[in-house]
Amino acid sequence: MFASAVNLIALVYLCSLHPTFGQDCPNRQEILGTLKQVQKLLSAHEASCLQSLRNLRKKINLLQSSAGKQIAKPVNSTCPKLDAPINGRKLGKSHSVGHEVHFLCDHGYEIVGSETRVCQESLTWTGQQPTCRDFSECASSPCLNGGTCVDKVNKFSCVCAKGWAGETCQSPVPTFFITRTNTSAGSASAASTLPAATAGVHIRPSRCTTVQGTTHCTCEQGYTISGRDSYSCTDIDECEVFHNGHAGKLCLHKCINTAGGYRCSCPAGYNVTNGRSCKDIDECATMQNNCTKDQMCVNTYGGFQCVQVDCPKIPHATYVKTSPTRCERSPCPLDNRACSQTPNYFSYHYLAVVSNLSAPRVMFRIKALRQLGDTLRFTLLGGGQVRRHFTVQRSDRQTGQLMLVSPVQGPVSLEAEVEMSELEKRVQLGRYLTKITMFVSQYEF
Ligand SMILES: *[C@@H]1O[C@H](CO)[C@@H](O)[C@H](O)[C@H]1NC(C)=O
Ligand SMILES: *[C@@H]1O[C@H](CO)[C@@H](O)[C@H](O)[C@H]1NC(C)=O
Ligand SMILES: *[C@@H]1O[C@H](CO)[C@@H](O)[C@H](O)[C@H]1NC(C)=O
Ligand SMILES: *[C@@H]1O[C@H](CO)[C@@H](O)[C@H](O)[C@H]1NC(C)=O
Ligand SMILES: *[C@@H]1O[C@H](CO)[C@@H](O)[C@H](O)[C@H]1NC(C)=O
Repeated sequence: MFASAVNLIALVYLCSLHPTFGQDCPNRQEILGTLKQVQKLLSAHEASCLQSLRNLRKKINLLQSSAGKQIAKPVNSTCPKLDAPINGRKLGKSHSVGHEVHFLCDHGYEIVGSETRVCQESLTWTGQQPTCRDFSECASSPCLNGGTCVDKVNKFSCVCAKGWAGETCQSPVPTFFITRTNTSAGSASAASTLPAATAGVHIRPSRCTTVQGTTHCTCEQGYTISGRDSYSCTDIDECEVFHNGHAGKLCLHKCINTAGGYRCSCPAGYNVTNGRSCKDIDECATMQNNCTKDQMCVNTYGGFQCVQVDCPKIPHATYVKTSPTRCERSPCPLDNRACSQTPNYFSYHYLAVVSNLSAPRVMFRIKALRQLGDTLRFTLLGGGQVRRHFTVQRSDRQTGQLMLVSPVQGPVSLEAEVEMSELEKRVQLGRYLTKITMFVSQYEF
């Protein structure tokens, strides 16, 4: 029926275009009747189509919601994400039900908490989130006989009580007691010449009280209960216990353990001050030097230097000493160009500094008292070690300065020579030489 209706419509259409079709073309009545039928047919089709579309939509919705439920379920079948502990790792990436994750700590750390956690049906993990704790090698008290354990990265060391030695203070050191006798005046000095390490164990009895069957023993200040029994106290080696770092260095230079205490010593040329510091002795001021009358005494850190200025011998010029640290050129003969090119003076300066002085810093300033020419120039002479440690800079129009550019490790003496030259229209008017000798001490104090 539908096909024949389509044929009829096609025929009507052709007839309207080509009236020559003639008698084969349907009449108006026929056409209207057919069109009505087709309209009815289309309406019926439209209704059934809509109905099946509705059904289809319903089915899709049903499928969608059931599929949605199926998809939603796996989303929440994993346990919450777990992080690796700080200084540790987590093994196992799956967080779904039934899976396990394992935890490991880095070298030098131990795990606290659960090593393994399982994702449960309830979507929670078993156990507790672990942490990694710095493994203390001292936790097991490895030092014997009263030794003090010092925890280091991945290892420990023992500071043994007097009388014990070895890695864990396991072996006794052969001991002897110093007995002070009044037999000779030299006994005290004899004792003090013994090296500190073999000066014997300083042992004192402890003071014990027994309360309800428990004995408590105490020691004098500077002593500690020795490992073997509670009835004797051994001297604490403060120098060892407070060696570099722990509560600061006890002594600026050297620590000497004594019975019940310690004392500090300084190198020759220094006096101990404040019990722990070292102060330089000024040998030049205290006549503790052997410099001759012609010499100048220069106090240095930890010592002194005898210096003597001898004026340089340079062709075409003669120099005379105008002060202990200055040589001036005698007037040049007229028209003696060679002479007038030589330095007008040599000036000598001595500096005493400690070792490893921080840099950069200004060591010395050279100032032109008056300026004759249009240009003033400062130059560092010499090479090698001097160039490695020094440089010359202009600090203002009239002044040049010798700068220390890198720390110098003593003991050493460095000599820097700075030339100041005056020029007028590029013609040299004068040269002035300053020699600076720097005595660097052995120590940083
Ligand atoms: C699924 O888990 C997430 C977090 O993991 C949560 O926010 C959400 O409420 C859960 N949904 C259901 C239906 O349990
Ligand atoms: C040792 O000498 C000191 C003084 O230097 C004195 O007080 C002490 O009694 C002497 N001891 C002995 C045992 O003679
Ligand atoms: C430094 O010690 C010496 C003895 O070694 C002493 O003669 C001198 O007076 C001391 N100087 C100072 C400033 O303490
Ligand atoms: C000064 O004495 C020291 C030893 O203390 C010696 O080495 C040096 O040569 C002496 N100097 C002079 C100028 O005598
Ligand atoms: C020099 O001093 C610096 C810091 O002021 C220090 O780090 C360095 O170790 C010192 N050098 C020596 C050789 O003592």
